[in-house]
Amino acid sequence: SILIIDFGSQVTQLIARRVREAGVYCEIVPFQLADDGFARMKPKGVIFSGGPDSVTREGSPRAPQAVFESGVPILAICYGQQTLCLQIGGQVEGGHHREFGRADVEILKSSPLFEGIWEVGKKYPVWMSHGDRVTVAPEGFEVIGTSPNAPFAICVNEAKRYYTTMFHPEVVHTPDGAKLLSNFVHKIVGLKSDWSMAAYRAEMVQKIRDQVGSGKVICALSGGVDSSVAALLIHEAIGDQLSCILVDHGLMRMNEAADVVAMFREHYNLSLKLVDASDRFISQLEGEADPETKRKTIGRLFIEVFEEEAKKIGGADFLAQGTLYPDVIESVSFSGGPSVTIKSHHNVGGLPERMNMQLVEPLRELFKDEVRVLGRELGLPDSFIGRHPFPGPGLAIRCPGGITREKLDILRQADAIYLDEIRKAGLYDTIWQAFAVLLPVQTVGVMGDGRTYEFVCALRAVTSVDGMTADFYPYDMDFLGKTATRIINEVKGINRVVYDVTSKPPGTIEWE
Ligand code: XMP
Repeated sequence: SILIIDFGSQVTQLIARRVREAGVYCEIVPFQLADDGFARMKPKGVIFSGGPDSVTREGSPRAPQAVFESGVPILAICYGQQTLCLQIGGQVEGGHHREFGRADVEILKSSPLFEGIWEVGKKYPVWMSHGDRVTVAPEGFEVIGTSPNAPFAICVNEAKRYYTTMFHPEVVHTPDGAKLLSNFVHKIVGLKSDWSMAAYRAEMVQKIRDQVGSGKVICALSGGVDSSVAALLIHEAIGDQLSCILVDHGLMRMNEAADVVAMFREHYNLSLKLVDASDRFISQLEGEADPETKRKTIGRLFIEVFEEEAKKIGGADFLAQGTLYPDVIESVSFSGGPSVTIKSHHNVGGLPERMNMQLVEPLRELFKDEVRVLGRELGLPDSFIGRHPFPGPGLAIRCPGGITREKLDILRQADAIYLDEIRKAGLYDTIWQAFAVLLPVQTVGVMGDGRTYEFVCALRAVTSVDGMTADFYPYDMDFLGKTATRIINEVKGINRVVYDVTSKPPGTIEWE
């Protein structure tokens, strides 16, 4: 395996993803815990990430001495390069605030790092980090790649197998970066590609059996990809010792609860209880217009209902959760300080503490795209795995203002037509997330000979990579016109449709 020591770069996770894409298992450990991580993992190779600090600052992060003493190969990136050089006898000059930019690196000498990609005498684009820089390399090092602004762009000690770069191979702006990382783990560290989802599945099934023994596990299945894949994996491991609960809060999309139940019961023979709690949720939400109160009410009720149902099942010692690796990685925080709550997310967050149960989290080591691959391994259809994200509080946050059953029904119909049109146009997989919103505004229209006074429906569609930033989707007008006509003709209660052309930031994806 590979250990990645995190010095706080924004893109450390990308190193892990590239290494795993190369078929090699790796873990990220913050520099504060790197000593323990190194002793525990006994990795065959180590990667030092970049980071925002300056190695010239007193007390700035360092790599554990044990890593240097062990003789394992090291790839040190950006801040990692500077601390490595400084720690073993080189010199680093304090520069300026760290920033990034494109640069062309000229290759001076061949190296296993460049095998199959970079040739001596040629130049290649990379994403360079400007800030501190190495001025004197440690003994035994030589520069094998350089650029006018970064004389030590690639500085290595082939005998010791220490490779350092001032640029970031993990980002897409270094087009050959993934191959460089793959060369490091395969050609230099000498690891084989044996990290596959088939292997992970088998290993996890065994781990779940070891952890749970003859105990009982309960799982809140939402129909989302994470909870579904977690449930299927646990089911494969322990069969009927797993009980799933689907809480229908009345805020799901058209036919959603029924479809999820059908798939998991019929196709997978999973023990799944559907709890219709829609009256309870909707009666408590009725008339509530404040977005945060809506979110918190839904979160609280969800926990209450789930807890009651879990008690009915009885005797469960374990709670399953679809926690992913990005939620687990302990982040290196330099700036600290409280961040503002934009929206309180509702998941099963508060459950484990309240219920005093042990957690079973079979996806803890995986990134989202790996969960999708595992889902396919477990036989989930592509259409299910490729579904757009859907928020825990469901349609409640797509119905600004107070909700009623009637409004939810109107919204559900409009949303179903909208998604149907998107699928028919072959756009579903291009769009990251699309949905309808029912505005608490009525406007005047004319239909046939009559005046109408009905609600406005807003359509939303965005492209995004991770939901953190997003752009509105640029539909052609024909598509929008056709979809609007269908919604107005087919949904009683809507007489006007508008399209949301706000990006994130400054907007958010959901309206509340
Ligand atoms: P925003 O609206 O903050 O949403 O731009 C970003 C992504 O998160 C989803 N979202 C949620 N997911 N529980 C969830 O599990 C929530 O409470 C929640 N609120 C928003 C949203 O759909 C989008 O994909």
